[in-house]
Amino acid sequence: TQHRPLLGRHVLVTAGPTHEPIDPVRYIANRSSGKQGFAIAAAAAEAGARVTLVAGPVHLPTPPGVDRVDVETALEMAAAVDAALPADVAVMVAAVADWRVGRSAGQKLKKAPGDGPPALELTENPDILATLAKGDKRPALVIGFAAETQDVIRYAREKRARKGADWIVANDVSGDVMGGDANAVHIVTAEEVTSLPEMPKEDVARILVERFADALPR
Ligand code: C5P
Repeated sequence: TQHRPLLGRHVLVTAGPTHEPIDPVRYIANRSSGKQGFAIAAAAAEAGARVTLVAGPVHLPTPPGVDRVDVETALEMAAAVDAALPADVAVMVAAVADWRVGRSAGQKLKKAPGDGPPALELTENPDILATLAKGDKRPALVIGFAAETQDVIRYAREKRARKGADWIVANDVSGDVMGGDANAVHIVTAEEVTSLPEMPKEDVARILVERFADALPR
């Protein structure tokens, strides 16, 4: 018999990057493989949850039993997250682009001799995590991720407070975590910091899923 601590729960996960179009063939993006978010969606489904995975553009198969919604931009991701509510747990793993091009071109921008590069006017994207955490459909447990290259735990604590998340899962990306199969994370909650050794992203996912099953109100 399987251990299914999330039976009857709805878990919402965002994963991957977003692509913000400059013109029909160019975009702005963050670096993200989507692997950690997909592993969390897979582990939550194995634990019995109904899982909605809102995925940016990635090259990964949909984990068994997961409802996947593919999006391209941060605005599309925000709308898909809102449409998926209510949820018991939200895990925002996506590397959302902070800015989009205010007015992206309908046609491919051309390099005309002597013209120089185009000036791109950037507009701030909504913070999907903060909007969810402060909204009236807030899931019982809201978890954010933080990729930092220095002072990882201090920045994670600040981010937790600023965004209104319950936990921030912080990882040090100064090494080669990006796109890799292993991750070393610190789980920062209001009460404590739990630092896990480097392990496969699937194992990080299983540990997180066990922890949020324990933390959910019964
Ligand atoms: O501020 P920063 O981008 O480092 O925060 C990372 C966390 O916030 C991640 O959980 C990420 O998914 C989330 N985020 C978001 N919407 C944004 C920016 C970040 O949901 N526009």
